[in-house]
Amino acid sequence: MEENKNELIAMPRINERAPEFKAVTTQGDIHFPNDYEGSWTILFSHPADFTPVCTSEFMTFANLEDKFAEANCKLVGLSVDGLYSHIAWLRTIKEKIEYKGMKDIEVKFPLIEDITMNVAKKYGMIQPGESDTKAVRAVFFVDPKGMIRAMIYYPLSLGRNFDELYRALIAMQTADEFGIATPADWEPGDDVIIGPAGSCGTAKERMEDSEIDCKDWFFCTKKLDKEKVLKAVLKK
Ligand code: BEZ
Repeated sequence: MEENKNELIAMPRINERAPEFKAVTTQGDIHFPNDYEGSWTILFSHPADFTPVCTSEFMTFANLEDKFAEANCKLVGLSVDGLYSHIAWLRTIKEKIEYKGMKDIEVKFPLIEDITMNVAKKYGMIQPGESDTKAVRAVFFVDPKGMIRAMIYYPLSLGRNFDELYRALIAMQTADEFGIATPADWEPGDDVIIGPAGSCGTAKERMEDSEIDCKDWFFCTKKLDKEKVLKAVLKK
């Protein structure tokens, strides 16, 4: 019993390889993360097909799929429902649901069937305090090398903010590209944080560098043009 419980709460960790699995999806079989190497992937779970919050999320994500693709990011969904349920739900969304100006929405990214909960358990998506029969709303950002870079878990009642998922993706890509960190609420065009004194220059050198704005020895920012960020992270 104890062993069973621990299996349910296995959690992936940041900067470790995304747990590997093979699965059946609405777009054919996949081998994750191997099939996705070379691009970022957002792997996300939802509690159940034919439910309202999940429907609003799927429509929003499908509507943004091209925007994520331009940032070299693919989307993969999962719930513990079966393939035929997934297919029927996605068809209903396309044929019948109009929401916030979105209609005729076709979900083209793969939706994993996970009736056995094999994948959900590997990713800590089953959180018994919330539900032991449904996945919570989990989001994993997996980088082009198959490493988990960030994860967010939401309860069943809380629909995700897709602007924040996009912002987080661009911020991590920017951090990789320019060797910087991004402060609270950062958006492309805002100043970025440079590493602690000692990693590139002494505090005194930094204080004298007109490009760098040091609020104190441990907190220095510099400008990074929006165009430079977008050129680096968006595929043209
Ligand atoms: C929903 O997507 O609406 C939902 C799913 C499971 C529990 C609560 C809400």
